Parts: sequence; C-alpha cells; structure tokens
Amino acid sequence: MTAKLISGTEVAKAIREELTAEVTELKGKHNIVPGLVTILVGEDPASQSYVAAKNKTAHALGIYSEQVTLDPDTSEKELLELVDKYNNDPKINGILVQLPLPKHINEANVLYAIDPDKDVDGFHPVNVGKMVLGEKCFLPCTPHGILELLTRSGVETSGAEVVIIGRSNIVGKPIANLMLQKREAGNATITLCHTRTKDMAAHCRRADIIIAAVGVPKMVTADMVKDGVAIIDVGVNRIGKASNGKAILAGDVDFDAVKEKASCITPVPGGVGPMTITMLMKNTVQAAKMAANLI
Ligand code: GUN
Repeated sequence: MTAKLISGTEVAKAIREELTAEVTELKGKHNIVPGLVTILVGEDPASQSYVAAKNKTAHALGIYSEQVTLDPDTSEKELLELVDKYNNDPKINGILVQLPLPKHINEANVLYAIDPDKDVDGFHPVNVGKMVLGEKCFLPCTPHGILELLTRSGVETSGAEVVIIGRSNIVGKPIANLMLQKREAGNATITLCHTRTKDMAAHCRRADIIIAAVGVPKMVTADMVKDGVAIIDVGVNRIGKASNGKAILAGDVDFDAVKEKASCITPVPGGVGPMTITMLMKNTVQAAKMAANLI
C-alpha cells in the first residue's frame, strides 16, 4: 500500500479562503479588523522563521499584525510590561509570545499574564481548563490543526486506537485530551507514549492512528506500524543545510518507508505546519468577534 498524502498545505488553503471571506465580512458589516501581535525574544532562527510566517499569513488574510522582536537579554519585567500594554490595546485581539523563551525568563509567568480573551495560543490555564472540560475556548493551534486535518481528510477517529508520542503541553497533552472527548475528530481510545514508555513499538503496532510529536528525526520506523495506519507527523527537525543555505527538514516519522504501509500520512514540510499557523488566524478572528460581542 502506498499512502494517500494528507496535504496540510491544501487543507490550510481551504480554511484560509474561508477566513479571508470572514475577515472581509467583519470589515464590511462591522468595521472590525482583527489584530494580532507576535512577540519574539532572541534570535533563534527557527522561531524567527515561524514568527515571520505568522505575520505574513495574517497580512495575506487581511488581519492587522504587529511584529515585536526583543533583545535576547530582555528582562522578564520588560516582557510583562509589553504584554500588559497589548492586553490594553483595543487594536490587538490576539497576543502570541513565541516559545521557547530565554532561560532567564519564567515562561509560565509570561503566559499567565496574557489576557485569556487574547490568548490565541490557548496556553493560559483558563483556556487549558476550559479545553479539558470541553467548554468553548481558544484551542491550542497545533492540536486544533490536527483535528481539522483528520476531519477534512475523512480519517475515522470514533473508536479508533490512537497512539500519541510525546507529552508536551503544546501538542501531546492537549491532543490526547481533545481526541478522547465526545466531539468531531474525537471519541478515540488514547495511548500517550513518552520517554519512559517501556515498549513504544508494541503500542504503535496496535494503532489505527499515530500522532508523532517528539522532535526526534525519523523515530517512527516501518517495522513499528501496522498496515493501513493513518500517520500525523508533527516533527519539524532540521537535519542539515542544502547548498542554497536552506534548512533540510525531516519529521519524526521515516516517511519514505512508512508511506508504503500507511493508508494516509502527512508530509514534512507541508503537513501539520501550515495548519498550526492557519488555526492561529482562526483564533485571532474568533477573538475579534468575541471582543465585539458577535459570538
Ligand atoms: N513554539 C512552538 N510552537 C509554538 C506555538 O504554537 N506557539 C508559541 N507561542 N510558540 C511556539
């Protein structure tokens, strides 16, 4: 079997068209322009490219965006003051502080300082709590993107054995929680594997769906999966540099070998990545509508 490709680029394009229409309507009917600020502390090249892509996408969709880049030695106090400024700026509906932050800044202090109504990352404990309870909230962008990919690609999740590899706050924990809920792309039986899991391969071989979010290139190999498995590869690992200076990327899954056994698979790049950015835009539009009491 050669897997069907689940193109995040294509699914993201369809959602972006829907969002562009929504942004146009908001402007035309209500004179509202959703606003996003991204805040980057330091010079990490991967973070720089993610933040640039987020601002470029916002601009393309008609969302107002500001991009703030701060010195690596910016203090926690300065960053908290900036967050507070944007909490009180009516032009801004969404505040995104790019992670990871430099070691001298306490990540939790910063994330908790963001107004939950502007927390378009869905990382504030108020939104995390609501997500776990299945209440309306901002869903974290990567898990939200995975749910949309599964739904729009017709992957059946109800009753499916789903193995998630990686227990991060950004991907592993929230996607596990969302997929066990009674919701679209939910009702699954979840196994969450991590660094202390005894026999990862045995769990993976039972899986109807594998979601890999570990940050280890090509860790999921063909001998670890069963025929017909659906694969969502969240990994974006820089494994070298091409002659033109561009980073060579690999996912957490050995794509070339696993695609011969899988029924469908996301590529890297062009899989989950474009979906994460698109769901950030969706959350920003949602925040603008909430601020205007339209939802
Ligand atoms: N770093 C890696 N992924 C993310 C994300 O989704 N949001 C933020 N703020 N930082 C990240």
